[in-house]
Amino acid sequence: MARVALIFGGRSVEHKVSVTSARTVAAGLEAAGHEVVPFGIALDGCWLEPVLAAKALSGEVDVLGAVGEPIAPTLATFATAGVEVAFPIVHGTWGEDGTLQGLFEILALPYVGAGVTASAVAMDKILCKRVLESAGVPVVESIAVRRQELEAHAAETLERIGEVVPPVFVKPSVGGSSVGIRRVAASDQLEDAVRFALRFDDAVLVEREIDGRELECSVLGYPALEASAVGEIVPGADFYDYADKYLDDNAGLLIPAELDAETEARIRKISVEAFAALGGFGMARVDFLLETGGALYVNEINTLPGFTSISMYPKLWEASGVSLAELVDRLVTAAVVRQEDRKRLDDGIKAWVADLEGR
Ligand SMILES: Nc1ncnc2c1ncn2[C@@H]1O[C@H](COP(=O)(O)OP(=O)(O)O)[C@@H](O)[C@H]1O
Ligand SMILES: [Mg+2]
Repeated sequence: MARVALIFGGRSVEHKVSVTSARTVAAGLEAAGHEVVPFGIALDGCWLEPVLAAKALSGEVDVLGAVGEPIAPTLATFATAGVEVAFPIVHGTWGEDGTLQGLFEILALPYVGAGVTASAVAMDKILCKRVLESAGVPVVESIAVRRQELEAHAAETLERIGEVVPPVFVKPSVGGSSVGIRRVAASDQLEDAVRFALRFDDAVLVEREIDGRELECSVLGYPALEASAVGEIVPGADFYDYADKYLDDNAGLLIPAELDAETEARIRKISVEAFAALGGFGMARVDFLLETGGALYVNEINTLPGFTSISMYPKLWEASGVSLAELVDRLVTAAVVRQEDRKRLDDGIKAWVADLEGR
């Protein structure tokens, strides 16, 4: 049993999803016998103490409204709470991108999920593709565009990105929940879609459309990674866009996905390889595009996937025989073991230097 800080909410557009995820995680932690100490991060980044944060877990509020104070002083309650492990379930920017993980590293606090580097790389679609490509993990062909480049050399840049024949997907490099993403069917809409995506990030990806299926696989563990059963998303709209994810409720989740044994095994293997290529541990949901004809691509890696009671990440583990309580318990254990290893490594480095200095 551990005293676990459950951290949720946050400054990103995924604030509300995070609150819902946190309710599921809290239930799982309690069922596993852990003590949950809730910390909510308000919409403006201020940290709310457990009594206030608990109101979101109990359903009294769905959003932690802005506090309107400087963020730093509000961190004090967390830093002095005497928790043993942090369980961050803050999706998106300042939660999933390595920044929050950096805070836990500084505090020498074990934390659930991927570390700073894997979180940061997974969050940046352009960077992530490069790392995956160099590790031999299949990714969809795309062209990256940076804001300065478009501003300085508009005609050349548009010509360059025009090389990917539509239909294409235009996405902000850093983002999530399909925010800023457009499907472009004809070349004359490309510039507009790129400028739209640039409202959400300074870099944008123009990617060939894969006509086929969307499959997802959950990964868990430290130091070894394990892959779950494979699930399928059946978008209710043109693609799995923001409205389809959170507003319309038309998308379907098929668990397990109907796949031949060879494809399923390939997806599970590549999921582990892809996350390992980022130096990942803890948890991730690896999303795939399976092209009609059989070509398989990793679309993205989510290091803090949705964790609501109907979310793919916990559902896939449930389908693999791992209950919610066992899942969160394994995540907590992984965090503690990883911190011990990290400390041993650090002690080793210091001992080596001390040896050298004492020679
Ligand atoms: N290359 C592509 N081909 C087909 N569909 C795509 C492609 N890229 C993205 N999509 C669609 O857009 C959705 C969101 O894109 P994704 O890259 O997963 O961004 P996010 O991080 O916002 O979830 C996907 O779930 C899928 O429905
Ligand atoms: Mg996605």
